[in-house]
Amino acid sequence: MTKRLKCEFDEYVCDILNNEYFLETKKDLHHGTSKYEHSLRVAKLSFRLGKYLKADLRSVARAGLLHDFFFGTRKENPENSYLKHPVTASNNAKKYFNVTEKEAEAIKTHMFHHVLIKKIFPFINRHEKATIKEFKPKSKEGWIICLSDLLVSLMECERFQFTYTFNVAVLLVFNIILFKN
Ligand SMILES: [Fe+2]
Ligand SMILES: [Fe+2]
Repeated sequence: MTKRLKCEFDEYVCDILNNEYFLETKKDLHHGTSKYEHSLRVAKLSFRLGKYLKADLRSVARAGLLHDFFFGTRKENPENSYLKHPVTASNNAKKYFNVTEKEAEAIKTHMFHHVLIKKIFPFINRHEKATIKEFKPKSKEGWIICLSDLLVSLMECERFQFTYTFNVAVLLVFNIILFKN
C-alpha cells in the first residue's frame, strides 16, 4: 500500500484501532491468529479491492475492520456462533462506532460464502439454519467484505494446511454417508 493510501486508510479507521473495546479483540484467537490481526487484514484487503472496484472506501475499511467485532470466541456465547456472530458484530459496530446502515448490512452478510458451503456440505453446523436470501450481500461493499474475509481466512488457515485438508475430507465423507439420498 502506498503512503498516501495508508494515510487515507488510517484516517477512516484510526478511531476504531485506538478504541479500548476494539483492542479487546487482540485477546481472542481466530483462525490461529488474533481476531484483531484477522480483522485488520480483511479491512486492508477490502480497502484495496474497494479502490480497484471504485467502492465507498470509508465503508469497506470500517465494515472490514468491524466484521468480526464480538467479544470472546465463537464457542463462548451462543450469540457468537458460526452464523449468529455477524448480527452480533453488526449490533456492536452500531453501538460502539455508530456505523452507517450500509456498513452494518455489509457486516451482517459477511458469512455468505459459508452459507453456500453449508448448502454443499449440509453436515457443517447442521443445527444452524440460514437462507441464501438473508445472507446475500446487498451492496458492492458487502460483496467486497465477504470476498476479503474468504481470501484472508484461506490464507490464515493455509498455515494449518494438513488439519484443514483433513477436516474437509472428513466432512466430505460424513456428507456422502448421511446425505447420499
Ligand atoms: Fe466472521
Ligand atoms: Fe472474519
